[in-house]
Amino acid sequence: MANDGPVSVLFKLYCLGVMATITASYSVAVRYTRTTGQAQYVSATAVFTAELIKLLLSFCMMAKETGLRRLGSSIVEHVFIPKELLKLCVVSVLYALQNNMTFMALSNLDAATFQLTYQLKMPCTALCSVYFLRRPLSARQWISVMVLSAGASLVQWKPAEVTPGAQNALVGFGAVIVAVLCSGLAGVYFEKVLKSPHMTTSLWVRNIQLYLSGTLITFTVVFMWEANRTMILEKGFYFAYTPWVWLVVGLASVGGMYASVVIKHTDNIVKNFASVAASLIATVASVLLFGLHINLIFAFGALLVCASICLYALPKNTCKLSRPASDEEESMV
Ligand code: C5P
Repeated sequence: MANDGPVSVLFKLYCLGVMATITASYSVAVRYTRTTGQAQYVSATAVFTAELIKLLLSFCMMAKETGLRRLGSSIVEHVFIPKELLKLCVVSVLYALQNNMTFMALSNLDAATFQLTYQLKMPCTALCSVYFLRRPLSARQWISVMVLSAGASLVQWKPAEVTPGAQNALVGFGAVIVAVLCSGLAGVYFEKVLKSPHMTTSLWVRNIQLYLSGTLITFTVVFMWEANRTMILEKGFYFAYTPWVWLVVGLASVGGMYASVVIKHTDNIVKNFASVAASLIATVASVLLFGLHINLIFAFGALLVCASICLYALPKNTCKLSRPASDEEESMV
């Protein structure tokens, strides 16, 4: 199955817009489900269900590409390649960890703080891009990454929201750090596999390979913890699933599919810019929904984050410090 061809700028903007909107709605919705209602659902079941839905959706997309009659033979021919499955399995493990940590973070931090601190994935992704994809950054871009980190740390000082007793900010920040590391590594490694010049496999084949192992891994994670096992055996797999929780699962599924399209047609760093736009939407949503108060330190941190994004996004040739990309680097983009 050949790799899909180039797409229009309009289509890229559409995918970025949808993904950013879903990212913003996702963190607000998760936060809402974790802080309201008497009974709590097992968050690992939501991560598993989203993975399963993405797998089914990817089969549908592949069937659309190959036609229903050739689907079976195409799967046998292109999906079940042990070496490729193993590579995508590494990505699945990282994403499974990231997605579970995201729930832990959002159970302990408010949506806006989560979104802004989670932007630390920018420098992490940049470092991974330099190391794994050999895409050097200009001095200006590194400075913007540093400013971004400073802005994100200022945001962590925000004493705006009164944290209920059951929440632990330290656990929340720890979970964010693990999620950030996994996001950078998984995203860049997935991009490397997807855009390898020697492999011209379709995005949907790659996604099926990713979600096959992802489904197995996230299912294992559900039953890894004694508390989860007891609760599921006593109350059922989908206990306390309100329409809001199903919305969270839906957003994670569709958002993940769009993230893969964005990684394919742009790159992980561009994907992160879109997520930052989402963080601003989340801040507004938190003010409206949870009565979040924004103080000056928070506002300054947010400003630094925005400035660094603009600086990073400036075209390379406007900066004298940057050197022209070599043919090899260009061919990787
Ligand atoms: O926070 P970040 O942008 O790294 O999150 C990416 C999300 O997209 C993860 O939840 C991951 O599971 C999802 N994804 C996906 N399929 C891909 C790549 C990422 O579902 N091919």
